[in-house]
Amino acid sequence: MEKNFYITTPIYYVNASPHIGHAYTTIVADVLARYHRLRGYRTYFCTGTDEHGDKIAEAARKANMSPKAYADQVSAQFRALWPELAVTNDYFIRTTDDDHVETVRRILQKVYEAGDIYFGEYEGYYCVGCERFYMEKELQEGKCPDHQSEPEYRKESNYFFRMSKYQDWLIGYIKDHPDFIRPERYRNEALAFLREPLEDLCISRPKTRLIWGITLPFDDQYVTYVWFDALINYITAIGYPDGEKFRTFWPAAQHLIAKDILKPHGIYWPTMLKAAGIEPCRHLNVHGYWNVDQSKMSKTLGNVVKPLMLKDKYGLDAFRYFLLRDMVFGLDSSFSEEAFVQRINSDLANDLGNLVSRTLTMASKFCGGRVPPAGPPADEDRILRDLASRVVAEVEKNFEDLAFHKALIAVWELINALNRYIVESEPWVLAKNPDQKGRLNGVMHHLLEALRVVSVLIAPFMPGASERIMAQLGIEDGTVQDFDSIRRWGGLAEGNELKPAGALFPRVEYRKEEKAETPKEQAPPFKAEIDYADFEKVDLRVATVLEAEAVPKSNKLIKMKIDVGEERTIVAGIAKDYKPGELIGRKIAVVVNLKPTKLMGVESRGMLLATDTAEGLTVLSFDREPKPGANIR
Ligand code: MSP
Repeated sequence: MEKNFYITTPIYYVNASPHIGHAYTTIVADVLARYHRLRGYRTYFCTGTDEHGDKIAEAARKANMSPKAYADQVSAQFRALWPELAVTNDYFIRTTDDDHVETVRRILQKVYEAGDIYFGEYEGYYCVGCERFYMEKELQEGKCPDHQSEPEYRKESNYFFRMSKYQDWLIGYIKDHPDFIRPERYRNEALAFLREPLEDLCISRPKTRLIWGITLPFDDQYVTYVWFDALINYITAIGYPDGEKFRTFWPAAQHLIAKDILKPHGIYWPTMLKAAGIEPCRHLNVHGYWNVDQSKMSKTLGNVVKPLMLKDKYGLDAFRYFLLRDMVFGLDSSFSEEAFVQRINSDLANDLGNLVSRTLTMASKFCGGRVPPAGPPADEDRILRDLASRVVAEVEKNFEDLAFHKALIAVWELINALNRYIVESEPWVLAKNPDQKGRLNGVMHHLLEALRVVSVLIAPFMPGASERIMAQLGIEDGTVQDFDSIRRWGGLAEGNELKPAGALFPRVEYRKEEKAETPKEQAPPFKAEIDYADFEKVDLRVATVLEAEAVPKSNKLIKMKIDVGEERTIVAGIAKDYKPGELIGRKIAVVVNLKPTKLMGVESRGMLLATDTAEGLTVLSFDREPKPGANIR
């Protein structure tokens, strides 16, 4: 069986400081790395920063710094954060590292020589936020669908990667390797992208426009497109092409990303590798998004959750536990400090913390502070051992499936069974009867041994708590406590000196006022004054929605037939916030004299009025019942 495990996180852009989303991905990668080390795998874990491109150059300009100095500063913040979160990455890569620059140029040259890069003319709308071109039909009311900003129109000659050539191969590959992209919903999403014809990928930017990037090896007037550069980090980090690590860990590699960057990882990256004659990685593991108190996390909402703040307030193990326990891998989750505090008190302080302190206190008192002999097992002891071995197997299975929350639920099944075992076997009663000494020892031995099993099972998630439990059990540093050791019952040495310590997880209180104050959201600046005559030029009307349906292939647009005194079709970018069925029959406000525009091939004759809220867009509506076609003044 292959015993090599290489795990990567996305390399994070240096235009923002780390937040809970970055922390989640990196902690999941750490949990996986620690788990595989405990399973005896040769493991390599890499994270880093993505430093080239327009976005970074612009952020540096705003900060009045050179791009490199700016990248140095933010990259250092990421690098310094990870050890604070007990992240055990083996390597930290920066795309400005010399060896990375060399690897990118090497791959470009290889693909160029193979004839898969050509020079061509391109024009289109360019969104700096997305670092990509859009076709007109992809824009929403002339704006980038993701950033809602107006893209620049650019016409330029560029180099293109013949990605289209690999479309059929990629479809076949994904179909033949059902767990290449997982969970399945993201595999389906990738296959859905591939139902459209795949376009070639523009992989250069002219230096007249951008100099902050890696110069193409075959044309020094151009730099490399930031995604073509960034993805290659995964093989630079292990010494492609002839490093020993590359031979060991590729293609046994697994990437971990969130759903936002599925397309570059699921489509660009495997086709780039194919063109360069390199096998795709083993798994692309895709998780969902953390929202905060049900809203999207954003600087403007002032709800960006900082990992170090939570660590300082509640402790690192609790933070790591909560992230892994409360998100179902693959689905979105909403962070709430209140829910976090509840989990600390119930699962950690109450269930696990009490179990450890009760067991250690009793063992110290009743067994002279040492691990007592097990003696012959009673029926309830056998049940406990069976449960422990079932839980170990379940945790292993859940790790295979990336079902971290289920792994923790399984561990808590054991913890809860141990708490019941204490109540049912009543060691304090046994302790009063000298004839029961053997049984008392047996019960305490089983509890202590089960705590050893628990401490190994939680080690990937809560390394600090795991070590503290082991220290209390008198397990010497250097005694191997890995997954093999807990597949067998009885690894805890009889006679070990116990070292009870203070509470593993003190209870915490949630105080609302302690919540970081959310700065009042700033209203956008007012526009310049206009004459009433100018206002009058805008024809605003009441409309009734007669029919509504999603525009095919768009996840933002809804097409509506409306009555504004006459029937018309309008298209609006509200599909994320409204289902078509919710709109039918509603009265809405519409600008009816805007020049018609085509959105995804559908002509829109009017624009509905809506505003943003923390929960998404809301369409303007009326308190009383107006007639369709009525003027709005
Ligand atoms: N630089 C690119 C990645 C290049 S990889 C070759 C990039 N950087 S990023 O800074 O925007 O990081 C995106 C990643 O950060 C997500 O894929 C995810 O791992 C993590 N997250 C950022 N926000 C997140 C949430 N709100 N929730 C969960 N994870 C999130 O894209």
